[in-house]
Amino acid sequence: MKKKLILSLLFIVITAGCTQCSGTEEVTYEKKLARSGGVSYDENYITVGFIQTGKESDWRDANTRDYQNTFTKEKGYNLIYIDGNSDARRQVKAMHDLISQGVDYIILDPIVEDGWEDILKLAQDSKIPVLLADRGVSADPSLYTCWIGSDFKTEGVNAVKWLADYLEKQGRKSEDINLVILEGTKGASATIGRTEGLRKEISRHKNWRILASECGNFTQGEGKAVMEQILEKHKDIDVLISENDNMMFGAMKAMTQKDVSYGVDGDVITISFDALEEAFERMMTGELMVSVECNPLIAGLCEKVIRQIEAGQEVAPVQYVQESVFTYKNAGEYSEDRKY
Ligand code: AHR
Repeated sequence: MKKKLILSLLFIVITAGCTQCSGTEEVTYEKKLARSGGVSYDENYITVGFIQTGKESDWRDANTRDYQNTFTKEKGYNLIYIDGNSDARRQVKAMHDLISQGVDYIILDPIVEDGWEDILKLAQDSKIPVLLADRGVSADPSLYTCWIGSDFKTEGVNAVKWLADYLEKQGRKSEDINLVILEGTKGASATIGRTEGLRKEISRHKNWRILASECGNFTQGEGKAVMEQILEKHKDIDVLISENDNMMFGAMKAMTQKDVSYGVDGDVITISFDALEEAFERMMTGELMVSVECNPLIAGLCEKVIRQIEAGQEVAPVQYVQESVFTYKNAGEYSEDRKY
């Protein structure tokens, strides 16, 4: 599988007719493809190109660190980290570059599900195994080696199951309940899966109503801005479900500014996803009532897959990471041992 590719310098030769000139004279421009040409990798290392989504959340930072700690030179890897900058087109371009550079493996965390067929086909034709990590794609699974990540739909279902149980214990089972959902990035498999799980489970409760379900793009800033708009329209929110912790932290700021109380002793029940360090702190103070874990430690499983391929072994096409549900009641028991 290991291969050494020394690519000669590529040039784009743009030949354009000069419309401002008279007659048929032509002008030729030469432009060097700076990133994709003339690259050679030390064949003593396995070169892994990792295309990240961006830096939208604390979860993402923990996930990036995990790759950097796993794919080290000491372990025999040359890791090329690419920040997708929350731009799916940039991710596609980066993948083109990695393919033309002849890396050994590509790990892709696609921002959105759609639009990957052509580039996955190109990687396949170039015999570069592609591992999808965290988020998934809608393209045919025959186009990539495997997918490793979270069961987003189950995460959504688990969030609502906790809510139903909590309301029942509070004697509020038959009460009318108004919910607001802050969704993640549109078209992202994390958003699609969680929203599907949430809605499926919410629809089982005839006395529950979704007042608003808006996109906050997984960022704290957008979570706050969207929540401010929602609070302008709705005063009677019983439950806020945010599809990640950071949007919830932003929404909490918006609620505080509007004197809306939330958490264990407040009016709005707060539920989010990820369960990173700050979420644990906020669960222990009672501001956040539940965080459904989304495990960012995926790199180890990716490395295992690469080892299997190097050894000529079969690879499981779908692999889930382990996850739990943490609440304001049990966060204190677990906080010491958390790795992220
Ligand atoms: O794809 C995983 C999601 O993306 C995490 O829940 C979120 O925090 C991140 O930005």
